[in-house]
Amino acid sequence: MITAHLFQAPRQAGEDAIQRLTRWWHARRRRAGEVWLVGAGPSDPGLLTVNAVRALKRAQVVLHDSLIAPEVLALAPRRARRIHVGKRCGNHRTRQAVIHRLMRRYAAAGYRVVRLKGGDPFVFGRGGEEVQAMASAGIACQVIPGITAATGCAAYAGIPLTHRDYAHSVQFVTARFGRAGDEPDWSALARPGHTLVFYMGGRRLGLLARRLLRSGRGADCPVAIIRDGTGPNQSVRLTTLAGLLAEPPEQTNAGAILTIVGEVVALHPRWQTAPGIPANATAA
Ligand SMILES: C[S@@+](CC[C@H](N)C(=O)[O-])C[C@H]1O[C@@H](n2cnc3c(N)ncnc32)[C@H](O)[C@@H]1O
Repeated sequence: MITAHLFQAPRQAGEDAIQRLTRWWHARRRRAGEVWLVGAGPSDPGLLTVNAVRALKRAQVVLHDSLIAPEVLALAPRRARRIHVGKRCGNHRTRQAVIHRLMRRYAAAGYRVVRLKGGDPFVFGRGGEEVQAMASAGIACQVIPGITAATGCAAYAGIPLTHRDYAHSVQFVTARFGRAGDEPDWSALARPGHTLVFYMGGRRLGLLARRLLRSGRGADCPVAIIRDGTGPNQSVRLTTLAGLLAEPPEQTNAGAILTIVGEVVALHPRWQTAPGIPANATAA
């Protein structure tokens, strides 16, 4: 008898634990999880919004892009699961469908999920697709906007995107157009007094310069190429459209590149003395 009890007690305890775990799991599944799509801003952790900090502090799972500052990731509780779903070495990117699946799976299991994205989720961030994917799965999803690279980098570089005397409009443009039919309307982009901010243009800046020149934008139109904007290694190269065509930036994977084209660039404090700027180039 005594021997039988000795063997039964641990078995009973094990079964109890399994039942408790099963009950906990079902209760968690019944409690709907939530997803926040959070914009982390371009690089400087100081650009995070108060709402983004709040969401991060409550997160149980953080699915994050590459290039998110460690200080930002550290805002999530220590026990929160952090999963990198951004671009990895060698340019391999986690497939969008896999990201959707992870978001769905954790939310369906009752977790508070933060999908942390660089800049603003709705500016060239595929945030729209992620919201759609959650909606079609019946999962609640809130969006917390972030400072997009254009406004963050321009501010840290000292370039106003609009100015009463130089630019009355600004346009954010992706340089990732695929086939010829996807190309933007270059003659609309090339009008003077209009600031252009090119995202994802690193490898295509020569092509962009050629298209704008061909569509009538002046060869001396000022250009700023901002690498790693708002971060500790931010660099700004000042040139003109002609200079960009003659000498596009080195094609490297190092750092994110944002390109501002327009008269407002001449308001940069170094414009007059920047190397390679011809004396007659548009000046502020
Ligand atoms: C996939 S898009 C994401 C944009 C993001 N959702 C936003 O609102 O800024 C990535 C591009 O944003 C720009 N970018 C993002 N962060 C940047 C930074 N710190 N400095 C310069 N460009 C940046 C680059 O053009 C980069 O190729």
